[in-house]
Amino acid sequence: MSTVSGIAVLGSANMDLVAYVAKAPQRGETVTGREFRTAPGGKGANQAVAAARAGATVSLIGAVGNDTSGLRLRSALEASGVVTDRLRTAEGPSGTAHVVVDDEGGNSIVVVPGANAGVTSLTPRDEETIRGAGLLLLQLEIPVEAVVAGARVARAHGVRTVLTPAPVRQLPPELLDRVDLLLPNEHEAAALAGVADPRGAALALLERVPEVVVTLGEAGCLWAARGTEPVAVPAPRVRAVDTTGAGDTFAGALAVALTEGRPMPDALRWAAAAASLSVQRPGASASMPYRSEIEARYAS
Ligand code: ATP
Ligand code: RIB
Repeated sequence: MSTVSGIAVLGSANMDLVAYVAKAPQRGETVTGREFRTAPGGKGANQAVAAARAGATVSLIGAVGNDTSGLRLRSALEASGVVTDRLRTAEGPSGTAHVVVDDEGGNSIVVVPGANAGVTSLTPRDEETIRGAGLLLLQLEIPVEAVVAGARVARAHGVRTVLTPAPVRQLPPELLDRVDLLLPNEHEAAALAGVADPRGAALALLERVPEVVVTLGEAGCLWAARGTEPVAVPAPRVRAVDTTGAGDTFAGALAVALTEGRPMPDALRWAAAAASLSVQRPGASASMPYRSEIEARYAS
């Protein structure tokens, strides 16, 4: 099995402003936090870091601002081995995510897009990066027209496309028609399918895409492909301290496993091993495991 595989990620980079609290505030309420940290995040950058640390050659296509956050985001990506020559530096602020993490490790997030909002189209070199990849990872924190453009290039050149539909929104048919694997969490699956139960939602979504994996937090995930019964894959039991980026760790590791040719059930177990490690540590990208750690957890 190869340890190197090319993955392109088209998506956001954010500076996460994270407050750790016992319980997230309700509307009109003020609570005192325990700790505050700034840490690199953004769904695109997170997925790129997860895949790079898991052993792939990864390029991130996107944008940061020309502020100190932009510099820090770029150097954090490079420190994890992500290729950043397709990461533009735009005039203005980088994206920020205002994250509240509670004592159960759960979170709520407000994203202010900043430079990510300017990623509305692809350059010829961005397209070349996608054409040359074995797999394209997409999410929805950059304008959807760029996501559609990425999926279009990928489909035209036979590059497998995996879409994390977050933050969830209505998906244009020209995007869904070009997605090979849809990777929602259970809330996103329910919102997209209009069906609350994850199995029912996965089956409904299969009418629009050939393959669906619904992630279910500590309960693992559910894989559904056309023509077969859905398969549940459990997650390792761990004590979570911060689940921010768990879905991105799962996506990045899954992409690596798939491009290395692992069959889907094994790839999902490998991704679940990676994500279980990330929830045991604080931060989004910062918590993501390296390949040797994933292999050790997968084997145990
Ligand atoms: P987030 O938005 O917090 O990054 P998500 O909502 O996109 O995550 P989840 O379904 O919560 O996605 O989690 C993704 C995967 O991470 C799960 O399928 C599971 O493998 C792993 N995971 C999440 N939470 C836990 C946990 N508490 N214990 C073990 N594994 C977990
Ligand atoms: O998926 C987690 C990410 O969502 C965080 O890092 C934050 O930046 C938000 O975009």
